[in-house]
Amino acid sequence: MTLQQIYNLAIQMGIQKDPRGKDRIKKLLVREKEKFKNLKKDEQKEFDKERLFNPYSDTRILYGSPLKKIKRVLVGIDIGVSEVLLAEKLKERKKPIDLIISHHPLGKALAGLDDVMHLQADLLASYGVPINIAESLLERRISEVARTVSPLNHNRPVDAAKLLDIALMCIHAPVDNQVYQFVKKKINQNKPEIVEDILKILKDILEYKEAALLNVGPKLFTGRLERRVGKIALTEITGGTEGSKDIYEKLSQVGIGTILGVHMEETHREEAEKHHINVVIAGHIASDSLGMNLFLDKLEKQGIEIIPCSGLIRIKR
Ligand SMILES: [Fe+2]
Ligand SMILES: [Fe+2]
Repeated sequence: MTLQQIYNLAIQMGIQKDPRGKDRIKKLLVREKEKFKNLKKDEQKEFDKERLFNPYSDTRILYGSPLKKIKRVLVGIDIGVSEVLLAEKLKERKKPIDLIISHHPLGKALAGLDDVMHLQADLLASYGVPINIAESLLERRISEVARTVSPLNHNRPVDAAKLLDIALMCIHAPVDNQVYQFVKKKINQNKPEIVEDILKILKDILEYKEAALLNVGPKLFTGRLERRVGKIALTEITGGTEGSKDIYEKLSQVGIGTILGVHMEETHREEAEKHHINVVIAGHIASDSLGMNLFLDKLEKQGIEIIPCSGLIRIKR
């Protein structure tokens, strides 16, 4: 596979499992093309043209020729300068790395993280929150995230990859979409009755079983194990990063009893508790590993060797 083919596969898999559905994505891409057409010449120069084909602002090829043939990949949840150096070091062990893949966004994809959060509005609407409320609450949070990521030194690992001439990319929301659908299917199949059942269902998934051995298995963040689950919402698995903390009041009003997420800040947890919502947290790195694994299995089937690093719990299916 070439670097471009790997990138295309990621986008295609992301759209296939996107909670918004294919039609909505199609509409968004058409709108993006119209927006581009209406820009002035100098504005068009600045426009990131990947946006015309790729609905995920947090997923990009950051360095390397798209035509490069890829045989061995170093894959991690977070890639920093140290992992880039690790890739270089692996040459000495006769394992030259053609490409590094990070799950968490880097470079311009990190600077674009806020944009992918719009996905959350559709997700919340699918659980019954009126779209106007979801969009309005998210708008504030999205601009907050945009300001939070703006002072970061986004390009540091990208610069390291350039210096050592190792291709680098990041795949974020498309991978989190895999986790969303995979976990949702498991929950729907097993029909949990009480909160404890959700934890049991999760611990049957190998990545979470492995994480439990590292003391980071699925946990109850608020609520009680013996409570009935009520309506379960998987609103905190995909869509960039944590949404608005004001959403829990609305979720409880539309009848959500339990939230299943991958991580949750204390400020958000307190709000969920205040509104009587049970919160089960599956675990951050294990969830990201699950999503990456579903993608990496496809690469492996194409003859690409995967070397996991930086927290990735590699499990093949
Ligand atoms: Fe993730
Ligand atoms: Fe993550």
